[in-house]
Amino acid sequence: MIMRKTFLAAVLLLAGAGLAGAAETRHAAKDIDFSFEGPFGTFDRGQLQRGYKVYKEVCANCHSMKQMVFRNLSQPGGPGFSGAQVQALAATYTIQDLNDQGEPFDRERIPSDHFPSPFPNEQAARVANGGALPPDLSLITKARAGWTGTFAQLFYGMGGPEYVYSVLTGYEEPPAELASSAPEGKHYNPYFEAGPWIGMAPPLSDGQVTFDDGSPNSVDAMARDVAAFLAWASEPKMEERKGLGFSVIIYLVILTLLLYLVKRKIWTKVEH
Ligand code: HEC
Repeated sequence: MIMRKTFLAAVLLLAGAGLAGAAETRHAAKDIDFSFEGPFGTFDRGQLQRGYKVYKEVCANCHSMKQMVFRNLSQPGGPGFSGAQVQALAATYTIQDLNDQGEPFDRERIPSDHFPSPFPNEQAARVANGGALPPDLSLITKARAGWTGTFAQLFYGMGGPEYVYSVLTGYEEPPAELASSAPEGKHYNPYFEAGPWIGMAPPLSDGQVTFDDGSPNSVDAMARDVAAFLAWASEPKMEERKGLGFSVIIYLVILTLLLYLVKRKIWTKVEH
């Protein structure tokens, strides 16, 4: 019995130490106020357009977004590019197609084509990134919403977009006791979920992307913009969903009121 208790205490102690150790190196995501938070929040079109530009010019060199089709960029609730703009954007990339004889040829992409992927397959992506795999970003803000998920996003405004922002801006000098054991080619980033060592070099530097509207292009501003763009990509129908939710609540409130009045009317005679 005593043996068992000692064993249990040892296990608990070890587990506690493990958790404490993890808590020391892992940081919770930074809290950012995004325009699309809360039950009435909507995306900022300009921010989504800037975010797309950051993705296209920087992140797309390593990360695919396989779920995205060019015409998504002009759909309602999105970045609000015009049809002509999307056509022009798509045409800057080529894709292999088959002609009438079944022979492959390259043609310009059209709005119904997917975003191009930077690498032909996982192995090629790993080789180019020192063994680490750059994850597909189509659903990253959903995949990294945290264990509290959608509720935390609704109540505290914390979720996947905050995580992405925190990883992009979270590179630090490693603490002295870890610096000597730094794995080759890895960078210290305590916000990375599988961290603190990440196989992605800091992807952003101040002024890297120039925005047409002259918006700020510090690392902080670009990280916000691209995180917002990725949030939209993960949930393109968010605005529609929130609008519908609001109408449903109004409808239910009116229905409740009517039912209450009907109930009073029916039962008045019985009460006397
Ligand atoms: C030079 C290649 C490269 C570029 C450019 C790059 N990344 Fe990465 N990224 C990687 C690799 C490789 C990993 C995986 C790291 C690992 O697993 O250790 C990664 C990981 C990530 C993660 C963490 C994912 C997770 O699993 O939690 C996020 C988020 C991310 N990248 C976003 C971006 C964004 C946004 C951009 C553009 C601003 C960008 N990356 C640019 C190579 C790149």
